[in-house]
Amino acid sequence: MSSDSIKSILQEHRTFEASAAFKQRAHIGSQDQLQAMHAHAEQDPIGFWEEQARELSWGSKWDTPMQWNYPTVEWFVGGTLNASVNCLDVHVATEKRNKAALVWESEEGDVRTWTYQQLLADVNRFANVLLDQGIKKGDVVGIYMGMIPEAVMAMLACARIGATHNVVFGAFSAEALRERMDNSGAVCLITQDGARRRGSVQRLKAVADEALAHLPNIHTVLVAKNVGNDIVMSRGRDHWLHELMAAAPMKHDVQLFDSEHPLFILYTSGSTGKPKGILHTTGGYMTQVKYTSKYVFDLRDDDLYFCTADIGWITGHSYIVYGLLANGASVLMYEGAPNYPEKDRFWDIIERHQATVFYTAPTAIRAFMSWGEAWPRKHDLSSLRLLGTVGEPINPEAWMWYYDVIGRNKCPIVDTWWQTETGSIMIAPMPGVTTMKPGTATQPLPGIMADVVNKDGSPCKPNEGGYLVVKHPWPSMLRTVFGDEKRYRDTYWSHFEPCDKHDGYYFTGDGARKDSDGCFWIMGRVDDVVNVSGHRLGTAEIESALVSHAEVSEAAVVARPDEIKGNALVAFVIVNANVPTARKAELPALLREHVAAEIGPIAKPDEIRITDALPKTRSGKIMRRLLREIAGGGEVTGDTTTLEDHNVLENLR
Ligand code: WT7
Repeated sequence: MSSDSIKSILQEHRTFEASAAFKQRAHIGSQDQLQAMHAHAEQDPIGFWEEQARELSWGSKWDTPMQWNYPTVEWFVGGTLNASVNCLDVHVATEKRNKAALVWESEEGDVRTWTYQQLLADVNRFANVLLDQGIKKGDVVGIYMGMIPEAVMAMLACARIGATHNVVFGAFSAEALRERMDNSGAVCLITQDGARRRGSVQRLKAVADEALAHLPNIHTVLVAKNVGNDIVMSRGRDHWLHELMAAAPMKHDVQLFDSEHPLFILYTSGSTGKPKGILHTTGGYMTQVKYTSKYVFDLRDDDLYFCTADIGWITGHSYIVYGLLANGASVLMYEGAPNYPEKDRFWDIIERHQATVFYTAPTAIRAFMSWGEAWPRKHDLSSLRLLGTVGEPINPEAWMWYYDVIGRNKCPIVDTWWQTETGSIMIAPMPGVTTMKPGTATQPLPGIMADVVNKDGSPCKPNEGGYLVVKHPWPSMLRTVFGDEKRYRDTYWSHFEPCDKHDGYYFTGDGARKDSDGCFWIMGRVDDVVNVSGHRLGTAEIESALVSHAEVSEAAVVARPDEIKGNALVAFVIVNANVPTARKAELPALLREHVAAEIGPIAKPDEIRITDALPKTRSGKIMRRLLREIAGGGEVTGDTTTLEDHNVLENLR
C-alpha cells in the first residue's frame, strides 16, 4: 500500500437483489443487457453518448459530438436545442399532453396539479413576462424561492428565453444571496413574498430586499405571491408575478440555442470552502440528466416520483426539474418541513398521493430513524416501488432501516453518487439488475469511466483506498467555475494532469475504495481524511461505526493536532432524543469501545463530545472544516455563509 492511500476498515457483506417482479418490468432487466450497454460505452464512449443525445429533440444536429481540450470540454457542438422544449413541448405534442407534470402540496396541505399542457402555458406566459421586462438571452437571472411551482416555472422560463438561472436556496441569508447575485452579474431576481416552514413564515422578499439594497445592477424583481404576508415593493423595479403573467400571452415563439449555451450557474454548498459558481450548459446536461433519470429511477409512465431535495441545489435542478420532465414523468413537490404538522408528513404524502419512487438524503433518513419507526408504520407505503439516496455515504444501519421500514423489504435502493459538478448521477445501481450492498453506490453507469487511483494516478488494488477520479469527460460535466477559470483548473484538474502514464483525470475530491466486485465505497472527502498513527482514515467509516450504536443518531469525526500522537481523533456525537441525561455521561467511554469492536482499535476516538447539533450546510452536509477548528480550540475562520444554523457554532464552543 502506498503511503498516500487511505486505509479502509469498514466491512459489510450483506447483499440484496431486486425481486423477479421488479426485474421483469425494469428498463434494464438482465445482466446481459447491462453488460451490452457497458461494452458499447467502453468501445465507443462518444457514440454511446450520441445515442443518448438522440433521445432529445434538437433543431440542427451537432457536427462534432465532443471537443476535448484538457480541461475544456464541449459536447454536441453545432447542435441547437431548447431545454424547456425538451421538458414540455415534446410531451404536449403527444398523448402525455394531459398527464400531470407537477403535483404540488403546500405545507398547509393545499394540492395543485399542472398537466404538461398547463405547465407549458404558464412557462410561456412567464417567458413572455421576462422578455417584456427586457431580460434577454445570456442574462443571468437570480431565483430566490422556496419549494413552490413558480420556482420550477421560473427555471423553465429562463431556459426558454436563453437566460442563465442562478438559483439560491430560499433559506440562505441576505449576504449569501448578495454575494451570489453579485458574483454572477445577475440583472433580475425572481422571489416570493414568503415561504412556509414548520408552521411559520420565512419572509423571503424582506431578506431579498436587504441584498437588493447592495445590488444596483438588478433592474427587475418579480415576486410570486405564496403566503400573502406584507411586503414592500420598490416602484419601477418590483412587480407581482401573477399580475404580469395574467396579462401575458400563453403563446411564445420559442428559440433554439447552441448546445453549449449556459443553462445555469449553481453555487456549491461549500462544505470545504468559499462557494464556487458551477456552470452547466444545455445539450450535454440535458442528455445525461434524461438518461440517468430514466435508467436509475427506472421511470415508467405511471410513476409518481417524489424527491425531497430543495430546488436550491443540484438534486432539485436535475432530479425534480430537468431530468424528470425531460422523461415526461409526474413529479410530486412538497413545500414544507418533514415534521409538520407531525413527524409522518412524508409518509402521509406518499400514502395520499400513492407515490411510487422516493428520493431523499441519508441525513434525512437518520432523522426519520431517530423519530422512531412508529411514524412510517402508521402508513400504507405499498405504492412505493423504488427508493433512492444521495448526498453522502449512507451508513449500512440507515440503509437497512430504509430498506425495511420504508421499502418494506421489496423496493430496491439506488444509492446515487454524484456532485453539483457532475450535473447528473455517475455511480449507482441499475435497480433491476445490480446486486445491492448497504453502503455502496455500486458501479459507474455505462458511459462513466470512474476509478480509484493512487496519488500518481495508478489504479488502486481492490479494497485499497485512494482518490476517486473520472477518466473521460462526460456530457453533464461542469464547464467552468463561473468567472474563475483558474479555480476550475486548480480544484478539479491539477491533481492528475496529463502525463506519460495517462491523459489527465477529473478529481472528485472524494476518497474511495473499490471492492473485489468493482463496487465503489465512498470514504468521504479527502480534505476530511484523518491521519492516525500514520494511517489515513476516511471519516465516513468511523462515523458509520458510531451511528451503528443504538443510542446514536449522528456523528462527525475530525482530527486535532496532538503533541504526542501527532493527531487525536475527536468525535462529535448526537444521541437519540430519548437518552436520559445520566446515560449521556456514560456514553463516551462505551462508544469508544463500540468503535474499537466494530472496526478496530485504530479508529477509536480519543475524545467523544456529546452535542445537540452539528454544523451542517443547508443540504445536510456536515461542515467538518468548522469542527476541526473547534476541536483544535481555535477560532472558526473562513466562509460560513452556507451554514444552516449559526447558533450551532456558539453552542459547540
Ligand atoms: C459530494 C457532492 C449530488 C447531489 C447532492 C450533493 C457526497 C453525494 C453520495 C453518495 C457517498 C456522496 C460526495 C460528493 N456524495 N452522493 N451516494 N455516496 N457520497 O451534491 O453538494 O455537490 O456534494 O457529496 O462527497 O463529492 P454536492
